[in-house]
Amino acid sequence: MKKDIQGSKSRKIIELDKKIISQSYHRDSFGFVYDHAKGDYIYDVEGNKYLDFTASVAVANIGHANDEVIKAIKKQVEKGLHCAFPDFYAELPVHFVEKLLTFVPPHLNNAFLSNSGTESVEAAYKCARWHTYKKWFIAFEHAFHGRTMGSLSMTNSKPVQRERYAPFMPIIHVPFPYIYRMPFATEEECTQYCLDKIEQAMQKHHGDIAGIMVEPIQGEGGYIVPPMDFHRRLKKMCEKHSILYCADEVQSGCFRTGTFLASEQFNVKPDIVSLSKAIGGGIPMGVTLANKQIMDWKQGSHSNTFGGNLIACAAGSASLDYMKKYKLGENAARQGKELMKILNELKEKYECIGDVRGLGLMIGVEIVKDKRTKEHAEELVNEIRKHALQKGLILLEAGKSVIRLCPPLTITKEEVVQAMHILEDAIKQSI
Ligand SMILES: Cc1ncc(COP(=O)(O)O)c(C=O)c1O
Repeated sequence: MKKDIQGSKSRKIIELDKKIISQSYHRDSFGFVYDHAKGDYIYDVEGNKYLDFTASVAVANIGHANDEVIKAIKKQVEKGLHCAFPDFYAELPVHFVEKLLTFVPPHLNNAFLSNSGTESVEAAYKCARWHTYKKWFIAFEHAFHGRTMGSLSMTNSKPVQRERYAPFMPIIHVPFPYIYRMPFATEEECTQYCLDKIEQAMQKHHGDIAGIMVEPIQGEGGYIVPPMDFHRRLKKMCEKHSILYCADEVQSGCFRTGTFLASEQFNVKPDIVSLSKAIGGGIPMGVTLANKQIMDWKQGSHSNTFGGNLIACAAGSASLDYMKKYKLGENAARQGKELMKILNELKEKYECIGDVRGLGLMIGVEIVKDKRTKEHAEELVNEIRKHALQKGLILLEAGKSVIRLCPPLTITKEEVVQAMHILEDAIKQSI
């Protein structure tokens, strides 16, 4: 049944929003106004219920308003909200990090705490520059690392994000192996082309490159999965040139792809890792991880006010426990396979599905005008999302014309099947 999304309540809120909220935010919610959420479902102010295939942008990995997290937050609220951890010692943030370190490869044994993805990338960037004394960084075309000036300098996803903000930090952008859209016959040729370009960049600024920032799977840029040996070969090149390999796992981390870090899927050990989004269990948090020898900056060289916030650490800690207890990584891998199977069947049936790619529950469906020309179909993406929403499924886009599927890692097989029925109906209605 078609939902009445834009009723009088939502219209009123949207009107007020347009008057008093910065319109730099990117909203295309088709009139949907959030009211509350529980588990895998979101409810709007008109009383409609939706299956959430966005996890509120890869944050709600353990589902919305998780009971264990709420319990931990309530308990902490009674004890205190903020302890100025960057200025005073405190138990909870230290224990949170101690727990987090058991989820990641052992060489990552030091953490810097902050409040967002962009901050956790900034910290990685600054840490690499501090440690190496070097100035340049390499980042990728289509990359998204955040919007503060250091991270934005590396971001290269949509032109509007950088428009009017130059000059940037000294960054060299190099191609990412976007197999579907690059003119190569094989994955190997595509990988080699990109690695050659990176090698050229490394040689051009030889001796003055601190690090390379890379998303294991590009997120905002279009859920682009590189060939499985790309990261390993890239890391090897970094070692050869003494360049730090920094993995931005803000979106791909916290079991989204099946393993805690997506880097594990590609068999690489990053020198520095940036986490955020799901790590705070729904409360803002950023964590930058590295080996103690790399995180060697001295007192005062990087800090903040809210890093190690008590509510965020309580929520983050409960969230880690929940992920482990309910084996959410295994569920992500299992449901991801199920989704890929159904999506590949849909790809055979519909001319507008050009490509289906992903790992675990980080899956992109590239929508095109026709399979042969691969022309982007931006408007069709919007139509499909709108019709899906009207049928009770929330979807996000990514890149130029990609539907991104990143549901909570708690979804069930029944919900996967239900979501794919809705998606197919929405496609039929939109083409
Ligand atoms: C890979 C990646 N890095 C960094 C960021 C920036 O995170 P935030 O919006 O919390 O600053 C994002 C946000 O989407 C992201 O996907």
